[in-house]
Amino acid sequence: MSQEKKHSKITVPDITAMKASGEKISMLTAYDALMAEILDVAGLDIILVGDSGAMVYAGHENTLSITMDEMIFYTKSARQGVHHALLIADMPYLSYQISAEKALENAGRFLKEAGAEGVKVEGGEPMASTIKKIVDIGIPVMGHLGLTPQSIHAFGGYKLQGTEQVDAERMLKDAKVLEQAGVFSIVLEKIPAKLATKISSSVNIPTIGIGAGAGCDGQVLVTQDLLGMYRKFKPKFVRHYAAIGDEIEKACKNYISDVKSSRFPSDDESF
Ligand code: KIV
Repeated sequence: MSQEKKHSKITVPDITAMKASGEKISMLTAYDALMAEILDVAGLDIILVGDSGAMVYAGHENTLSITMDEMIFYTKSARQGVHHALLIADMPYLSYQISAEKALENAGRFLKEAGAEGVKVEGGEPMASTIKKIVDIGIPVMGHLGLTPQSIHAFGGYKLQGTEQVDAERMLKDAKVLEQAGVFSIVLEKIPAKLATKISSSVNIPTIGIGAGAGCDGQVLVTQDLLGMYRKFKPKFVRHYAAIGDEIEKACKNYISDVKSSRFPSDDESF
């Protein structure tokens, strides 16, 4: 968001208008108040409480195990730090797939109990009627296509999606169907840059890419990846903007050494 707009509250219409004006959308993830506040002060357009928190925050192997109550807690916590960015919450696995009624109830909980301003839902055409129902009761929905991590077992791993013509065509159709259903934006994850560019120019709503090249209308990364805090592996599409994990380890080692050698606390740090 431009400097003058940075200090006013960013809304869903602001995000959709950014596509028309050609301004790229910046989005990162947060799961707690302290991190959310740092991202907000930095000027992010959208802060996503992603179900990636299951992995980079709670330490699970994938995103499937995180519950509604855990996502509500993360979202409520992030809400405390967010004053300018648009705050979107990820609907966790099985919170929206079982029935439209359950999806409406759970989407509503994010707004009512946690202060989110919209929800993100994975999936294409099969999810469209549920998404439309959520949108129809006034809840903004962000779509998510490509490598949708809640389908990780069906994909057989974190593989590049949309490489076959038939899959690429289906994804393009899914994007148009989601637009029709009323989503205000779509995350495109781990798909060829050429396909993401084509999808982005075929819909009037913004696309936000992660591993989808520079042709998207915005970009998202998991904050712990960007900061170099998640050290288990580094996907090709991640750029480390810092090595915070190494810095924390170094600081902790220095602390241990100071405690063991009685260099901490000093007289100045004592009463
Ligand atoms: O859960 C998440 O953090 C996400 C983003 C990677 C888009 O879905």
